[in-house]
Amino acid sequence: MSVSRRPVIAIDGPAGAGKSTVARIVADRLQLLYIDSGAMYRALTWKAILKEVSPDDQEGLERLAEDTKIQLINDPEADNRVFCDHQDVTSEIRGPEVSKQVSQVAKVPGVRKQMLRLQRGLGLQGGIVMDGRDIGSEVFPDADFKFFLTASPDKRVERRQLEQIEKGFQYNLEELKREMLERDQTDMQREMGPLVKVPDAIEIDTTDMTLDQVVRRVLEIVNGGEK
Ligand code: DC
Repeated sequence: MSVSRRPVIAIDGPAGAGKSTVARIVADRLQLLYIDSGAMYRALTWKAILKEVSPDDQEGLERLAEDTKIQLINDPEADNRVFCDHQDVTSEIRGPEVSKQVSQVAKVPGVRKQMLRLQRGLGLQGGIVMDGRDIGSEVFPDADFKFFLTASPDKRVERRQLEQIEKGFQYNLEELKREMLERDQTDMQREMGPLVKVPDAIEIDTTDMTLDQVVRRVLEIVNGGEK
């Protein structure tokens, strides 16, 4: 496929590696649609908590995923909005309750199948930057560009904490670190769509890089057609 227009760009990596911020800016610069696939798992988790479906109830979660309408709306003026059954849950899905349970929900195969279907549908026409854990491996194995962003655990926790403070949530650094590492473990060890760097992904260690440097690196590669 020609990469001069309508590319599919997959950005994977663990929490706090900078994926979402980088993906959003890259999409904006290249005039592509940005899809935060984690927000989809978070929205479903929010609904599971509301409906009191336990994270252990795999069938219940699968049914819930089938009966839930999740929409991501790109808003050039503000943060992108996330809707769950037409309710705006953009702020709610970043809260501690959802963060604690989301990897449990995301490891349910029936949930992942449903999300995979939705995510692939969004990328059918190309012209998309999607970030997550299994985008280059499962969702778009034929993506034009695949990136795998990493950073040291301390740096990732520091970034997550800043993000939480900005959103008005208070978190203890140790607690945040423990939860984030637990989440990484669950994401890496699950059977379906685990967090993995595929061989054709370009790895960028963002530990000592500024946001601007990471964005520039990604854009250089995409604009240069380098794979
Ligand atoms: O990117 P995030 O931290 O908002 O993602 C929330 C959770 O969703 C994370 O624990 C892993 C899961 N997730 C996933 O399993 N697959 C994806 N493509 C994206 C996120």
